[in-house]
Amino acid sequence: LPLRIYGDRQNSAGVEFGDRDALKELMDGMEDAIATVKAHPLIPGVKAHRGGVDVRSPAEPGRVVGTIAQAARDDIDIAMKAARGGFGRWSRLPAAKRAAALARAADLLEAERDRFMSLLSLEAGKTLDDGIAEIREAVDFCRYYGLQAEKLFDEPKSMPGPTGEENRYGWRGRGVFACVSPWNFPLAIFLGQVTAALAAGNAVIAKPAEQTPLIAFEAVRLLHKAGVPEDVLIYLPGDGETGAALVAHPEIDGVAFTGSTGTARAINRTLAAKDGPIVPLIAETGGLNAMIVDATALPEQVADDVIMSAFRSAGQRCSALRILFLQDDVADRMLEMIEGATRELHLGQPQRADTDVGPIIDEGQRSMLAAHVAEMRKSQTVRFAGEAPREGSFFAPHIVELDKPSALKEEVFGPILHVVRWKAGTLDRVLNDIDTSGYGLTLGLHTRIESRIAKVLSRLDTGNIYVNRNTIGAVVGTQPFGGSGLSGTGFKAGGPTYLCRFAQEQVVSINT
Ligand code: NAD
Ligand code: ALA
Repeated sequence: LPLRIYGDRQNSAGVEFGDRDALKELMDGMEDAIATVKAHPLIPGVKAHRGGVDVRSPAEPGRVVGTIAQAARDDIDIAMKAARGGFGRWSRLPAAKRAAALARAADLLEAERDRFMSLLSLEAGKTLDDGIAEIREAVDFCRYYGLQAEKLFDEPKSMPGPTGEENRYGWRGRGVFACVSPWNFPLAIFLGQVTAALAAGNAVIAKPAEQTPLIAFEAVRLLHKAGVPEDVLIYLPGDGETGAALVAHPEIDGVAFTGSTGTARAINRTLAAKDGPIVPLIAETGGLNAMIVDATALPEQVADDVIMSAFRSAGQRCSALRILFLQDDVADRMLEMIEGATRELHLGQPQRADTDVGPIIDEGQRSMLAAHVAEMRKSQTVRFAGEAPREGSFFAPHIVELDKPSALKEEVFGPILHVVRWKAGTLDRVLNDIDTSGYGLTLGLHTRIESRIAKVLSRLDTGNIYVNRNTIGAVVGTQPFGGSGLSGTGFKAGGPTYLCRFAQEQVVSINT
């Protein structure tokens, strides 16, 4: 797709999948780019650990994508010492120099698209369109945060004041940030956190999700190649225990976390229990995302948007639709269309052009989804259960009709759509049900009634509200993304104030 131009910047270009030549070029490039990645901690002063455990493809568990040597507990102290030294130099660079390194990283990422596409497909099970979208988002984060840093953090600003006094207001990095990320956007979210922290002048110790360490390893190497010093960005692979030990380290100056609400709570408790300075936590967490559809909505559009929102990326997006509120008068007709469209979805190997739904990240997540459906069968109505390929970690789309919204209390992270009917005249109750769930990440609304749109907007403080469209795929700089309540602390990733969370203000007043 052509570059989209928004204001003073451009978003990264995509691929026109309808263009056979472009598609063939991409698929051939991915095939040629396949290589085994041997990942290990990247910490100045620590020798590359030898060996490691196999990382396997979720779609083809027999296939080894690479190996990962996890960081040892002692590595955290060494990483911290190195990063503290790196911070001193990096934070004193003009914002434009930090932005230039990030811009180079964006260019390198575009140039190395096929290698990252192949890893996204093999390690994370990303379909072709999800892979391209993820690379675009990662590139956009690098450029956008660089530009924002230049705007926000350039020279200190002079503030008005009495004669004989000079007042300067500026920003500086906080120190060493721990960035802890999830597997479902192993490139875009991993790089989004890291580049935001770097752009604001911090050093970073980055702990990727244990399911997707290889993509993160390659992303860190790419940033080093782009000019981010090795003691300013440190790669610390490991599991949840490594993440817990990292955030508990007494010298961490800030934590950027994206993942489940439960883990965010655990990190929050750890930070609150620490002695010493109060450490800020930026947490972007899960959602129990709803879509409200009334009788005036266009059925074909609703079916399209529901399928996209609930089942794209196998429902493994924090933004994915979990509960569809259908007005009773149109519910049967809409459900028939939605079920018909769901039946047409093709599950399969993610690198194939005809695959709509790829694998679930691992066996643990897959069995959690199966257990949820089994539990739902006891008291609710499973209306649709697709069939999944036997080989690989697949789980087919399911549609479950609930007798009441409270039958689902927590995010279920996968391709399971829950449906609740509502009667005309009871919209207030629907809004109340959505509100009392406590989550506030995405919300969809399909209606042709202007006053209804206004009412919903005035009642809910959900972070990202989408009217008459699908609820996924927020674009950097256009739809800043992030939730409220159980869904996160704000501010929004890819938005104009996000970097401020990673920096601190300072005012200098001089009597001249
Ligand atoms: P998770 O919470 O299990 O793990 C996320 C990261 O935290 C991993 O790197 C993990 O190793 C680490 N971790 C686990 N326990 C830890 C602890 N006690 N201390 C420190 N680190 C710890 O989440 P996940 O399964 O990787 O990701 C899926 C979740 O992420 C879903 O809930 C999804 O909604 C959410 N998510 C949110 C957003 C958003 O922008 N709001 C985006 C993507 C994913
Ligand atoms: N930013 C991602 C989306 O909007 C999570 O789908």
